[in-house]
Amino acid sequence: MTSMDLYEYQARELFAKHGVPVLGGQIATTPEQAEQVATELLNCGTDLLVVKAQVKTGGRGKAGGVKLARSAAEARQHAEAILGMEIKGHTVRTVLISEGADIDSEFYFSILLDRAERRYLAMCSREGGMEIETLAKERPEALARVAVDPIEGITPEVAARITAEAGFEPGAVADAVAQVIGRLWEVFTAEDATLVEVNPLVLTPSGTVLALDGKVSLDDNASFRHPEHAALKDTSAADPLETRAKEAGLNYVRLTGEVGVLGNGAGLVMSTLDVVAGAGERHGGMRPANFLDLGGGSSAEVMATGLEVVASDPQVRAILVNVFGGITSCDTVANGIVTAVSTLEDFDKPIVVRLDGNNAALGRQILAEAAIDGVTVVDTMDGAADVVTALAEKIGQNAASSEQGA
Ligand SMILES: Nc1ncnc2c1ncn2[C@@H]1O[C@H](COP(=O)(O)OP(=O)(O)O)[C@@H](O)[C@H]1O
Ligand SMILES: [Mg+2]
Repeated sequence: MTSMDLYEYQARELFAKHGVPVLGGQIATTPEQAEQVATELLNCGTDLLVVKAQVKTGGRGKAGGVKLARSAAEARQHAEAILGMEIKGHTVRTVLISEGADIDSEFYFSILLDRAERRYLAMCSREGGMEIETLAKERPEALARVAVDPIEGITPEVAARITAEAGFEPGAVADAVAQVIGRLWEVFTAEDATLVEVNPLVLTPSGTVLALDGKVSLDDNASFRHPEHAALKDTSAADPLETRAKEAGLNYVRLTGEVGVLGNGAGLVMSTLDVVAGAGERHGGMRPANFLDLGGGSSAEVMATGLEVVASDPQVRAILVNVFGGITSCDTVANGIVTAVSTLEDFDKPIVVRLDGNNAALGRQILAEAAIDGVTVVDTMDGAADVVTALAEKIGQNAASSEQGA
């Protein structure tokens, strides 16, 4: 099961939607835009602004990715410095210009899915701001951990227990924090999140409790319930090949080797990766370049998209198609390969095909009759892995020697 991490500005939008108090702000991708957003915020009566790097990692403050500003010109300068910055391997492409808060105290709160215990876990501390790992290690007693029953959820009583265990004295602050916790629980359940974390949750001098930061992971398995979440997807950061494959409904994971692999069924594809890696040990250390499961319906169209995705990876030198015909018979798969190769322009990578199972003989016959340049049929999985890794090794050697000649 996978989940989708959100940027802080996206988390804030979900917070606002469910009544979690957040400050106003807008994103910008250039210093000019940042200046403009800052001007608008200042015109609305704010006198303190903050420019924040939008990257999917914590510790932005420490890395210099969060800076206070008191004028639009200053916000612009900060945006200029922060845009393009690297924070823990993430390049900053967007900044959030937000209203700044006067801070009296910083707290910590999170809810997450506790898989091992099959329930949720709420964590809360009066010592927010620093990273939770550090807090949990250095002052574990300052971090309250309260199990949340999935059926009961975080009721007002449970929220009060959480604040009490975190050491808040009964009173207005504890009540305000408990109320925000209730709203955050609504974010967690209504949006089908696996994590909602606010660090810091702050208390202002006027007694208001605000979420100044937000980290949210959404459960991918629930995405069918949330068509609106598709817009939150960050296509720029993902591998473009993985994005294309996903759009086509293919299960594709990019690896680091030279041999493209396509098969039907996750188990078969995984064992194909092993067999290719094994054969590669005899052929110049060739390794699988990807995992691609065509799924049950290996139609010509699916095959064409799969081959195109795998072949457009520049590291791929040769491709192995390993199909065990079941409901989709091998003749359908063979026709798929023939159509795919003829519809794809400039398809110049050799393909080794191994077909077995339902209608294997017919499938092989179709490929033999089509006699496509660069397509080789091999009867066994081990044999096919051997041929494809040998091809990949040879192509690598040819490329190297022509480079030397040039
Ligand atoms: N809107 C804001 N107004 C004032 N201070 C802020 C604001 N947002 C963040 N800060 C300060 O910057 C620190 C780091 O910001 P935060 O959003 O938590 O980023 P990170 O967790 O990645 O370091 C916060 O602990 C807080 O002290
Ligand atoms: Mg933070």
